[in-house]
Amino acid sequence: MAVLVTGAAGFIGFHTATALLARGETVVGVDNLNDYYDPALKAARLKRLEGHKDFQFRRLDIADRDAVAALVADRPDIDRVIHLAAQAGVRYSLINPYEYIRSNVEGHVVLLEACRQLPRLGHFVYASSSSVYGANRKLPFSVKDRVDTPVSLYGATKKAMEEISYSYANIYGTPLTGLRFFTVYGPWGRPDMAAYIFTGKILAGEPIPVFNHGDMRRDFTFIDDIVAGVLAALDHPPAAGSNGAPPAAIYNLGNHRSELLTDFIATLERTIGRTADVELLPMQTGDVKETFADIEASQRDLGFAPKTAISEGIPRFVAWYRDYHGV
Ligand SMILES: NC(=O)c1ccc[n+]([C@@H]2O[C@H](COP(=O)([O-])OP(=O)(O)OC[C@H]3O[C@@H](n4cnc5c(N)ncnc54)[C@H](O)[C@@H]3O)[C@@H](O)[C@H]2O)c1
Repeated sequence: MAVLVTGAAGFIGFHTATALLARGETVVGVDNLNDYYDPALKAARLKRLEGHKDFQFRRLDIADRDAVAALVADRPDIDRVIHLAAQAGVRYSLINPYEYIRSNVEGHVVLLEACRQLPRLGHFVYASSSSVYGANRKLPFSVKDRVDTPVSLYGATKKAMEEISYSYANIYGTPLTGLRFFTVYGPWGRPDMAAYIFTGKILAGEPIPVFNHGDMRRDFTFIDDIVAGVLAALDHPPAAGSNGAPPAAIYNLGNHRSELLTDFIATLERTIGRTADVELLPMQTGDVKETFADIEASQRDLGFAPKTAISEGIPRFVAWYRDYHGV
């Protein structure tokens, strides 16, 4: 038995693979190690995984049909998949839209097609995003809400992944679970996200860009809580409904606390011991003003129970940042 983790050199993939190995699983990690952000950070994460005897890494692109088919043929012991590889980021989807279609939509179909050939595939878990809620106004965002108004191409590709997954669960009966992550932060985090950008700039004495003049709220979710949710989801494959509904599920993984961006910045300032020089900017196209996760279904079905407030998570992130960057 082995778990295939795509995006294993990425932020969430690295932590997920680490947790799987810690509980005694065999992990096959794949990643194309692209340069959307500093590949040295991906290499550093990978180095920590590669020391483990139950970890095997394959550098490949999930949209490469031949490479993915060869991997699956070579590893028929893969019985579960955690698909986290994607072109992430709302803002970059305005700059390089085709990469989102290629990695997120095409890559998802290539993986689903290849994994159909696995003799013992029991569950395929994949990353969706709070971005699918787009222009929804009703808070907190619930998996029962309609999501028909993506405001970014990134959000639209994640919605497409959910619908493609539903159709695969329907046609082939494969249990498929989509996880809508809400603004994940923590050690080994992503350099294109607020916590990382703000920390670097505050430490360097540079102004931090704050969009919508700071009038934003985010459900910031600490990485350890996300990983606990991913593993709990993996262990709870959805069953087909007695009414003929396919074995397809969607869950929110968020902290269930919508924090003011200004409070997040104040916590960073207190932790670092410096005041930020704030550059107030207008709202960015594709961004949403507020996110807030309703986690009732994930609590009920998965036992998901996030426990890390930003007052605890931010100091843990900053400590890692200082150590990794030597500042
Ligand atoms: N971090 C968040 O706050 C957040 C929020 C919502 C959803 N997500 C989703 O969670 C997943 C993991 O995100 P993350 O924050 O770890 O991002 P990340 O960018 O750190 O990790 C993604 C990894 O996938 C790899 N990758 C990208 N395209 C690939 C391709 N075509 N073939 C092979 N590898 C490829 C990248 O090299 C990267 O290492 C993504 O699907 C993302 O959309 C993340």
